[in-house]
Amino acid sequence: MKRKIYIETYGCQMNVVDSEVIFAIMAKEGYERTESMDEADIILANTCSVRDNAEQRIWGRIELFHTQKKKRPEVIVGIVGCMAERLKDKLTDTGKVDLVAGPDSYRAIPELIRNITPDKPQVDVLLSHEETYADIVPVRTDKNGVSAFISIMRGCNNVCSYCVVPYTRGAERSRDPETILSEARDVFSRGYREVTLLGQNVDSYLWKCDAGTVTFAQLLESVAEISPELRVRFATNHPKDISDDLIEAMARHDNICKHIHLPVQSGSDRLLEKMRRRYTREWYLERVRKIREVLPGCGITTDVIAGFCSETEEDHQDTLSLFSEVGFDYAFMFNYSERPGTLAARKYPDDVPLEVKTRRLNEIISLQNELSLKSNQADIGKTFTVLVEGPSKKNPDELCGRTGSNKMCVFPDRIHKAGDYVDVTVLSCTSATLICKLA
Ligand code: SAH
Ligand code: SF4
Ligand code: F3S
Repeated sequence: MKRKIYIETYGCQMNVVDSEVIFAIMAKEGYERTESMDEADIILANTCSVRDNAEQRIWGRIELFHTQKKKRPEVIVGIVGCMAERLKDKLTDTGKVDLVAGPDSYRAIPELIRNITPDKPQVDVLLSHEETYADIVPVRTDKNGVSAFISIMRGCNNVCSYCVVPYTRGAERSRDPETILSEARDVFSRGYREVTLLGQNVDSYLWKCDAGTVTFAQLLESVAEISPELRVRFATNHPKDISDDLIEAMARHDNICKHIHLPVQSGSDRLLEKMRRRYTREWYLERVRKIREVLPGCGITTDVIAGFCSETEEDHQDTLSLFSEVGFDYAFMFNYSERPGTLAARKYPDDVPLEVKTRRLNEIISLQNELSLKSNQADIGKTFTVLVEGPSKKNPDELCGRTGSNKMCVFPDRIHKAGDYVDVTVLSCTSATLICKLA
């Protein structure tokens, strides 16, 4: 019987791809993927450190994995990913973890596993300047066979003062564009109809070789040229780096989805400076104007942090007014969580009381709910081409799929299936969904 590996994935989409890379590495060693922890020989959690609550969740999972180990002592329990990188042997010191592997150590996992003995857990958290897993074909774990994620770079060279990612993922490096293109062609030939190119800051993607350089805008156009039937998405853009070239390249290809995720973090210049984001509110608003001018109807979404060090009521009002001014289609909204070792943790006291953070966060959330609803209401009566992802979660007689601008549509349909393109007309909406009929 084949040995089995089970992985729970937390954190961002990059971790989803990394887990697929680990499955591929372990498949070569004869391990088969399982979705049941009870039958697994290896249990891994691919973890996130971006906020404290992400890590707290993992401590809970370690306890649960340990109950498996008590029943079946031969089971290997491992922590991989960002929390592995951050906490290193603090994880094995618990006596409940046999394996710790950081984001650049996945090729070493088979060897580490061979070296594990009951009193000798294995830790490898070496970061690399080169590793991109470019040659590894991920074992896809998506449910619908329509939408695939492709990692185009790793690490981050920015030093946003609140952020742990540069410490857990190491220096930025870009992946060979030929391997990205062949991966995109491969998934397309296997029936996938959408690829999302992933990096912490895709605008700084740069490949240098003897033949010259490849920028993100050029890479994106090459992927788009694979087929007009292949939709292309990407994330995340950085407001300081998003270029006119990119925005104009998006305009040239119908199959590049008109959606930009542009994390703003704060609307206050004073805090943006303290966060080391290296742009101002005015710069951000100018980038939004440019996007709207070149790409009418483009979805714009964001991330924001409430209650960063020294945030005053006035700073918070600046965030709210920026949200109203832009009218984001959607936002991921977080309370500031101090991360040990970051610049902010060393330099600035985490001095906004939790109740104040939470009150401000709730104000941003309720404003954003209104803005999302308004943005969706503005689409009533319009017709969009959506890529069918499968049956809608709430009603099996309906299908769901996204517009290019990344809005979720549901519509009654018994003919089409996942992977089909369908035109739908918007009849009504909630703040989260467009309710449609076939056009
Ligand atoms: N590379 C992306 C973001 C990666 S982390 C960018 O530059 O925008 C995803 C989001 O988590 C960030 O955009 C930020 O809003 C949030 N985040 C990061 N560190 C955080 C912290 N210490 N506390 C709260 N939220 C944080
Ligand atoms: Fe973190 Fe900033 Fe890098 Fe994004 S750009 S991953 S927020 S350091
Ligand atoms: Fe989390 Fe690491 Fe991604 S900290 S957000 S899993 S890069």
